[in-house]
Parts: sequence; structure tokens; C-alpha cells
Amino acid sequence: MTGIVIAIDGPAGTGKSTVSREVARRLGLAYFDTGATYRVATVCCLREGVDFKNHADVTAMIETMNVELILDPGNPRVTLEGQDVSSMIRSDTVALSVSQVSTNLDARAALGRFQREVIAGEVAGGFSDGAGVVVEGRDITTVIAPDADVRILMTADEEVRVARRAGDGADAATVREAVLGRDKKDATVVNFQTAADGVVTLDTTDMTIDEAVNAVIALAHEAQA
Ligand code: DC
Repeated sequence: MTGIVIAIDGPAGTGKSTVSREVARRLGLAYFDTGATYRVATVCCLREGVDFKNHADVTAMIETMNVELILDPGNPRVTLEGQDVSSMIRSDTVALSVSQVSTNLDARAALGRFQREVIAGEVAGGFSDGAGVVVEGRDITTVIAPDADVRILMTADEEVRVARRAGDGADAATVREAVLGRDKKDATVVNFQTAADGVVTLDTTDMTIDEAVNAVIALAHEAQA
């Protein structure tokens, strides 16, 4: 894949995933959710009984796991050893354990290598016609693709982020812990709360999804002008 690369980082509840997918859909680009790679590694560890505390075992497993990503923004999918695990990676069990992978620096390096190959179009997967890709995560603008054509840090006020994640009927304290607790753990290994040099901050606190999508598309047009 040699087209435009749009990198979008930020914490949970900023609208990052929805906006990234919609930008990819409107511009005809692939959509790569790097969080899914951390989640599928977590599923693999849980399945194989790998001890999360054993960093070398977790990393070795990541290096041998057989993952395929379908980067279609209309229907992104993830398979592990040929099985579709797209729903499974969103389970509470995985959400509760995924920080044990994302705070493991060796695991990050191994997943980072895989992510760079995906961005370069070197890994088998659907939806890579060469137009480019929208990549979302925590360290894409800084570590994984610092040379991306467009680099954005999406932010939003804490209360707004918690409210966005609170589904109907969900217990507020649980949601707060899920959103802020996980950010706190992840923030120990990656800085995704302040923008690095050359990274544009997009504060979505008072924005609709459509406004945020249009803002990203405007930056993409600017980058290509
Ligand atoms: O965005 P998400 O909730 O699917 O991310 C899952 C976990 O992986 C979360 O703990 C953040 C972490 N992550 C990361 O550390 N770096 C990335 N590029 C993407 C996700």
C-alpha cells in the first residue's frame, strides 16, 4: 500500500474509531484499528494459557500467531488461526486483560512490527487497493508511523468521554473505571494525551461525529494539496 496514511491517536471515548472508519469509508481508504492487534494477542494468550506476566512467552506467541485483518471500513474483521474473532475481541474478558499486553514493551515491539507491515501493505488482508489507510491507535503518530501524511491526536474532556462510553443502563462507575482506568495503565508506556511535534490536536468535546469527520478530511486534502 503506497497511498495516503492518516494516523489518528487518542484515548477512549474521543470518537476516534467512529471517525476513523467514516473517514476511510468516505475517502475509499482501508481502515486499520491497531487496538484490534492488542486485543487479538490477548485472546490468543487466554486461549493458549500463556501467563501475561511472562513477557517473553507473550512476545513469542505474538510472533507466531496467525492473524488476518480485513481492513474494510464497512465491515472490519479479524481472524485468528482462520477463525473470525471480531466479536470475541470486544468482550469484557478481553477488555479487562488487554492492558497486560499493551504495557508489555516487548509485546509492543512485536505488534509494532506487524502493524508497520500492515500499513505498508505487506501482510495478506482485504481492502488494500493502494489508495491508502486510516490507522488509529495510541502511538501511531509517534512510534508506528511518525512519517504519516496526516497525524492527528483526538482528545475530548474526561466527562464527555465517560458519558460517550456509558451505554444505556451501564453502571457509571464501571464505565468510568473502564475508560479512565485503562487510559491510566496505557499512559505508563505511551504518551497519547499530548500531541507530539507536527501532530494536530482535534478536540471533539463540542463536535458532532460529522464535524470531526469533516475536520479530518480537510486535513487530508491539505496534506495532498
Ligand atoms: O483502542 P482499543 O480499546 O481497542 O485498544 C485496546 C488496548 O490496546 C488499549 O489498552 C490500548 C492499547 N493500544 C495501544 O497501547 N496502542 C495502540 N496503538 C492501540 C491500542
